[in-house]
Amino acid sequence: MAETTTYDVVIIGGGPGGYNAAIRAGQLGLKAACVESRATLGGTCLNVGCMPSKALLHASELFAAAGGEFATLGIEVSPKLNLPQMMKQKADSVGQLTKGIEFLFKKNKADWVKGFGRIAGPGKVEVKAEDGAVSTLEAKHIVIATGSEPSKLPGVEVDQQRIVDSTGALSLPEVPKHLIVIGAGIIGLELGSVWRRLGAQVTVVEYLDRITPGMDAELAKTFQRSLSKQGMEFKLGAKVTGAKASKKGVELSFEPVAGGAAETIEGDYVLLAIGRRPYTEGLGLETVGITPDKRGFIETDHFKTSAANVWAIGDVTHGPMLAHKAEEDAVAVIETIARGYGHVDYNLVPSVVYTSPEVAWVGKTEEQLKEEGRAYKVGKFPFSANSRAKINHETEGFVKVLADAATDEILGAHAIGPSVSEMIGEYCVAMAFRAASEDVARTCHPHPTRSEALRQAAMGVEGWTMQA
Ligand code: NAI
Repeated sequence: MAETTTYDVVIIGGGPGGYNAAIRAGQLGLKAACVESRATLGGTCLNVGCMPSKALLHASELFAAAGGEFATLGIEVSPKLNLPQMMKQKADSVGQLTKGIEFLFKKNKADWVKGFGRIAGPGKVEVKAEDGAVSTLEAKHIVIATGSEPSKLPGVEVDQQRIVDSTGALSLPEVPKHLIVIGAGIIGLELGSVWRRLGAQVTVVEYLDRITPGMDAELAKTFQRSLSKQGMEFKLGAKVTGAKASKKGVELSFEPVAGGAAETIEGDYVLLAIGRRPYTEGLGLETVGITPDKRGFIETDHFKTSAANVWAIGDVTHGPMLAHKAEEDAVAVIETIARGYGHVDYNLVPSVVYTSPEVAWVGKTEEQLKEEGRAYKVGKFPFSANSRAKINHETEGFVKVLADAATDEILGAHAIGPSVSEMIGEYCVAMAFRAASEDVARTCHPHPTRSEALRQAAMGVEGWTMQA
């Protein structure tokens, strides 16, 4: 007989959405279980996404600096790559992080139920363990947090040998001679940067006539110029039609989107990074009458699905597919279940590309404001005029602040440059308090820091930037 356990809330999926929901539920005194089939908690982000990619970005950035900028600073070294050690330190850090989530579950009295979760009708979640044993959990509330998986492209079969997705690209056994990346989105450019810095030739094939759709166009242009300077090659406006893998390499075919002759290029590895799609396979949505939309997303209204007491958060629902968005959803959905209200301001979910230079932004782009017909003012400041960036030889990039023309409320902040991932939070806080650009402009910042560029850009809105 299968064992039955009763919970206030059963969360399916143990990624940033699921684990934060379980922890918050525990904090608010709800009896919570999180069903996760991976050997470790943390989902895509911790196991095969955000965290391992940042480990490789950090290590490869230092490797490239040791072979380049170090000499400018008067440090002469000849770095030698130890790829197995670079991969090991990545795995060690990831291991510590996933164990940390287990600790937080225990601390907050949330149960991790190991196995594949499937909704088996209202208030029921069936869990199939690795050994095939099935148990049933009774749930007052079910939260779907099953995340997403890499999108597929017909004619380009991912074998994780020669043709890899983001997971495979985090564990290549060698530095490619020529890595071909399909898709100039965040994954393609972050992982392309890793292997470029370690010595690979990298060609990025992108369908659109620009890189990183969604990023403010002015930043995207500067960003592309910077990546090109680092040796990344771009083929824009190119539609991939197929890839043939052999033991030694891959031949990729593509044709110009605008029409014209087809081309082929050869590489030893191909990374397919054309986006992600919601993951709901085998989830039993039909047992509670939920039908995903055409693109596979579960439709929600304040996290509520069409089924009573079934909620959905994170990548599986609409909105940016970002770990920190899923975390916000997680807290809000549990607070809604426990207290009747919870809120996320999706306009204030920041985006970051962890390349070098980094790119970070929050709020509206200039293109969005133009489309909305909104009158706005622009303040800009280059890192070449920031003293700390200058001293550090990190002068590439700029900060741009967009403020409402009438009220001066900050509508968007966009930065490309050193450590901007760590600094964009300043604008998230300012915008959460509906600050005017003048509020930031009149806030004392420490000198000398790169953060002064953020203030100077705000000062630029009224035309009184000073630092040079
Ligand atoms: P993406 O949506 O960022 O970019 C995909 C790119 O592929 C687009 O530029 C698109 O035009 C292009 N593309 C689509 N079909 C194509 C085709 N047939 N041929 C050539 N190009 C094609 O998707 P990506 O980079 O795979 O990332 C997936 C998700 O993961 C995104 O939502 C991203 O925001 C998230 N992510 C976030 C990270 C971060 O916050 N730092 C890191 C990695 C991923």
